[in-house]
Amino acid sequence: MYKLTLISLLLSSALFANDIPQNVIDAGDKVSSALLKQLSSKLKNELQENGLIAAVRFCHENAYTLTEEINLHQLKGLNVRRISLKQRNPANAPKSDEEETLKQMQALLEQNKLPPFLVKKTPTGHKYYKPLVIKKAVCLKCHGDISKNKELSSFMQEHYPQDKAINYKMNDLRGAILVDIQN
Ligand code: HEC
Repeated sequence: MYKLTLISLLLSSALFANDIPQNVIDAGDKVSSALLKQLSSKLKNELQENGLIAAVRFCHENAYTLTEEINLHQLKGLNVRRISLKQRNPANAPKSDEEETLKQMQALLEQNKLPPFLVKKTPTGHKYYKPLVIKKAVCLKCHGDISKNKELSSFMQEHYPQDKAINYKMNDLRGAILVDIQN
């Protein structure tokens, strides 16, 4: 009985792995890494050269456009976004299937089982998700408790009146990079 269960488990995980075309994984990896690299190097630069308020201004003015720019340079049928259950920019709100996946990621993180990426089938292709867990203290400068920094919190109130992306702690799930890949 035990053997049978083991065999069927092995079979189903093998099937699951085969189910995701390699080109979907490759495209998801490539596009999400490109976006992360762009955003983090520019953010780091801005913080070092011009300080926190300039950096937040930079994110406000460029993070969304940079994401769209990456999309312009991709093949047709590929689209990258940043999503979160507690988003700062309302344009980064998840769709209902994406919200489900973010909740699943949250549960996996709590069980210490969060994989480096997840792929979900859609009616027209696949969605590749790269989880973003807060691993660097610098993220908390703008996503932690920002109430003590009056200049920063009034910037957020002015530009993101519905900001939900605060009070995070280290190792929290901040959101995901989502690559929507059409067949
Ligand atoms: C200097 C301030 C600042 C720092 C530091 C910062 N962020 Fe942000 N973050 C922002 C702003 C502003 C936005 C909204 C950008 C926009 O309008 O698209 C944002 C948006 C995001 C989003 C998109 C989802 C949403 O809430 O709209 C993610 C994901 C994110 N940040 C993750 C991170 C991570 C991970 C780090 C650490 C590596 C980090 N951020 C560091 C200011 C910052």
